[in-house]
Amino acid sequence: MNYQSRDAEYTMGRSKVETERLIKQSQLYDDVTRRFFLRCGISKGMKVLDVGSGAGDVAFSLAELIGPEGQVIGVDVNPDILKTARTRADKAGLSNVEFVTGDARVLELPDDFDAVVGRLVLMYMADPTAALRHLATRLHPGGIVAFQEIEFTPYIAALHSDTPLANQLIQWAREVFERSGAHLEMGMGLYKTFVDAGLPEPTLHFEAPMGGHEDWEGYEYLANSFRSLVPLMEAYGIATADNVDVDTLAARIQTEVASAKRPIMLPPHITAYASLRI
Ligand SMILES: C[S@@+](CC[C@H](N)C(=O)[O-])C[C@H]1O[C@@H](n2cnc3c(N)ncnc32)[C@H](O)[C@@H]1O
Repeated sequence: MNYQSRDAEYTMGRSKVETERLIKQSQLYDDVTRRFFLRCGISKGMKVLDVGSGAGDVAFSLAELIGPEGQVIGVDVNPDILKTARTRADKAGLSNVEFVTGDARVLELPDDFDAVVGRLVLMYMADPTAALRHLATRLHPGGIVAFQEIEFTPYIAALHSDTPLANQLIQWAREVFERSGAHLEMGMGLYKTFVDAGLPEPTLHFEAPMGGHEDWEGYEYLANSFRSLVPLMEAYGIATADNVDVDTLAARIQTEVASAKRPIMLPPHITAYASLRI
């Protein structure tokens, strides 16, 4: 992967709609994330740093796994989205989660974490290797590094002549993420990123939610993802709001799936974890 010198423009924007989309996204991926955390050894009593918390869903899964005797510190550069995360934590009565505003790469943080984790966050950083190298210094010996990131390359295999709309969405998404500077192949890049950051070779898994049922929530999720992407698509001259027609998009994808009998794959994620040498 060739990284550039600047961070990605946060491709999905910072709107209220985007915050709600992140919460819905979590419902589709939380199962993947929970199994990942169990596999990598997140357990009762741990102190965990969640990098790029967004609306808080990763931190909430962690809170359940570490129990009341553990502690999660969630960091995000976007103070507004952390307001939502804090409100949700209060509503759920979570006393073991705290959210801090700041750039996780430079924020002063304790150095006694048992684990540092993140989902869909390294992909927005100009230099994920430098970020990981620094974040690992916040762990005590034996601590866990665990990141879940997007991998777009499998979509080449999903293209099909019977699914022109799905093909178009894949092309638009790739173009807008690439133009924004986000790393769409961060998932496959995790191995190199861990090793170049001086960490042990990670254990890796690959997963993607898929669906074809008439009432699958993935159609609405995809439409909402494009709702967040349209402003940048227009700014970059990739497509207009009229071209995308977000309001009818979920129904049109579902119709195409039904007639082509080809299910839709949501963006694949790759998970990677390693424990620091003691
Ligand atoms: C795609 S969202 C993912 C949110 C959450 N991890 C989830 O999976 O639901 C990425 C989040 O990372 C945050 N972020 C990006 N770069 C960051 C940095 N350097 N330090 C802290 N947060 C960052 C963004 O503000 C955004 O809220």
